[in-house]
Amino acid sequence: MSIISTDIQKAVHLLTNEELVAIPTETVYGLAGNIYSEKAVKRIFSTKKRPFFNPLIVHIASAKALQTMTTHIPEKAKLLADAFWPGSMTLVLKKNEKIPDMITAGKDTVAIRVPNHPVTLALLKQLPFPLAAPSANPFGSISPTKPEHVESYFKNDILQVLDGGACSNGIESTIIGFEKETPVIFRLGALALEDIEAVVGSVSIKNKKEESPDAPGMLARHYAPSTQTLLVDDVASEAKKHSTKKVGVLVFKESLNNSSLTEIILSDNGSMQEAASKLYDSLHELDRQKLDIIIAERLPNNGLGKSMNDRLQRATFTI
Ligand code: TXA
Ligand code: MG
Repeated sequence: MSIISTDIQKAVHLLTNEELVAIPTETVYGLAGNIYSEKAVKRIFSTKKRPFFNPLIVHIASAKALQTMTTHIPEKAKLLADAFWPGSMTLVLKKNEKIPDMITAGKDTVAIRVPNHPVTLALLKQLPFPLAAPSANPFGSISPTKPEHVESYFKNDILQVLDGGACSNGIESTIIGFEKETPVIFRLGALALEDIEAVVGSVSIKNKKEESPDAPGMLARHYAPSTQTLLVDDVASEAKKHSTKKVGVLVFKESLNNSSLTEIILSDNGSMQEAASKLYDSLHELDRQKLDIIIAERLPNNGLGKSMNDRLQRATFTI
């Protein structure tokens, strides 16, 4: 029997009993558990095979809960929360003693987000505790944007994927921390840099491990298909070099019109939003086809294109 179901009451019941449930968000599916249950939080790490040094994001129903979890909220964090929550932005703030150390991997900060998905907002409103939820994929693999992706990863490990359909944004939230009162981007994501800067002015990006020990999850290789994957500017000429192989290509908007290739076009009309929502699903799809190689086209490096290029770089060998 499938573990995918729309039954919110079942999810309430399981989570209350310290079990894990995969939940839909507008970015990617999360593998959720009660933040105050040591048993549930340990299972999140073991199910994902995630190292304990990599902290989890806490999901809450509304920004009002922020005061109960943090010791200080910078002015610009308030502006950002007002502008973008519920939504695809995670704020990293100084934690108070109520947040268990396992959630934050011993750090003195906690990552918090109000997701923008009606099913998960309804779920969070019924629970007396917040949900810790990393993306619902084994450590290092492609994040899930459809309930079926989670089912194929974890059908033997969890009892329910709460069905909220395909994720509308399709890549993870943008993570923003603070150096004193100044916002710093730890992870590019579904909320574009330009939108953030429109609210708080220019912000710096510190999303490489060398630059920021504060962004412990930003490993160079991550989000990766199991098929060898390349990221290039000129897909057609790269494909020619591999003509003896079974090649999959992932292009932004223009078909290569080459029937010997397995091709996915992210957005015929060049919409970054559509491309982002299809990015991981397309990688999952190409990965299933038992190809010898996947060649992905680098996107225009602005708006969500910048976030997608970040993910593709981590998923691939860049030429
Ligand atoms: O869109 C998302 O953010 C999804 C959905 C489910 O909400 N969640 C997600 O979680 O992508 P995860 O665990 O795959 O990525 C969380 C990232 C990790 O890179 C982690 O290192 C970082 O957040 N993080 C968590 N707590 C942090 C903290 N206190 N300081 C810095 N980075 C933190
Ligand atoms: Mg993840």
